Amino acid sequence: MKVLILGSGAREHAIADAFSRSQKTDTMYVCPGNEGIAQEYKCLDLPDRQAILDFCQKEHIDMVFIGPEQPIADGVSDFLKDAAIPVFAPSQAAARLESSKAFAKDIMNRYHIPTARHQMINNSSEIHEVISGFSMPVVLKADGLAAGKGVVITHNPQEAEDVCRELLNQQFGSTGVLAEEYLEGWEVSLFAISDGRNFCTTQFAQDHKQLFDGDVGPNTGGMGAYCPVLEAEPYRQEIEDKIIGPVLEAMQAEGCPYAGVLYVGLMITKNGPKVIEFNCRLGDPETEAVLPLLKTDIMDICLAVTQIRVNELVLEWDSGSAVAVVLAAPGYPGNYPKNLPIKIPQLEAKVYFAGVKRGESAWLSSGGRVLCVVAQADELESARSAVYRDIEKIDFPQAQCRRDIGRRTNQL
Ligand code: AMP
Ligand code: GLY
Repeated sequence: MKVLILGSGAREHAIADAFSRSQKTDTMYVCPGNEGIAQEYKCLDLPDRQAILDFCQKEHIDMVFIGPEQPIADGVSDFLKDAAIPVFAPSQAAARLESSKAFAKDIMNRYHIPTARHQMINNSSEIHEVISGFSMPVVLKADGLAAGKGVVITHNPQEAEDVCRELLNQQFGSTGVLAEEYLEGWEVSLFAISDGRNFCTTQFAQDHKQLFDGDVGPNTGGMGAYCPVLEAEPYRQEIEDKIIGPVLEAMQAEGCPYAGVLYVGLMITKNGPKVIEFNCRLGDPETEAVLPLLKTDIMDICLAVTQIRVNELVLEWDSGSAVAVVLAAPGYPGNYPKNLPIKIPQLEAKVYFAGVKRGESAWLSSGGRVLCVVAQADELESARSAVYRDIEKIDFPQAQCRRDIGRRTNQL
């Protein structure tokens, strides 16, 4: 079968790797990919959705796998499905679970899905009254897609009001700001594979969103992840019964059934698991740690979704652990320089390329998150040692890289 993967980051590189292990897949294209991915897999540029559709029809593509949220939120999935191309990604309407935090919160409230109490702030005249209704700290989130950077935790009312004003001015594609109760606990991510009616879940993974070791510093798109997270297993049933099942039923009841992968970002609190966010796609960098452990053919997963038979799907996993560590450009998540030279020798770990291009004698950085290095071993600690041993060998002296990926103590 032939697959077209849309996206250009380390996540899409990991997705391409999973398809390269698929018995059912003989041809793969990544659009646009990047020059690092292009070392291994065929990358091509298609300027718009019509060009993607033309390519799918001409090449008889059997499956389109959409990696990032933006094309899904823009309706590329609907556009291709309308032309009878099988797509592994939810519809634009279903993707509102990610693209509109207000929509997601409304669904969770109406269907009694556990999440933080919230209130919307639609204009600056509402800021003072809404903020006074929350104890500190309070979490402020821009509505709309913000690449993980639209969330600020504030510790006093004055700071909260100032941040609200700033977020309202920035407007990440939408108008409002969401003020939210601060949840205490530990975070974990879980992916649900859904065909709209049935679902199954993957291994747990844990992202490390803050820039610096010990979970301090600004929020980023994610600095590393590991899989599996064994401390989360006792909560799986509750998460499936009280969160994933109900939200998928809610989406059906609302007339926008959710087919694809639903990313559930959770806080495990003293009062049980609560939803921090839903995303309409695989997480980055969680995917780089989860997919290397997947033994099931990824094409079988896609077909189970598009053919509405996820009830028959059984996911199989390698019994080991994987640790994924991001190397980011200096300055990220703020402004960062480009064209920094990087030399990567032969490594045992896998290097997934996020933001690189080819230079004369070295790779050159072209983004904020540049590389994601992944090692796999029987035990978490061995995977951690292996990944950091190989990172030492990469010549990228200015890189920012957390040293404590996989070291959290997930306790209440
Ligand atoms: P989000 O973009 O909604 O995933 O938020 C980014 C990060 O902010 C999360 O991964 C959490 O670490 C933190 N966060 C978001 N909402 C809350 C909350 N209600 N309580 C505590 N931390 C939160
Ligand atoms: N790892 C966080 C995200 O993909 O949104």
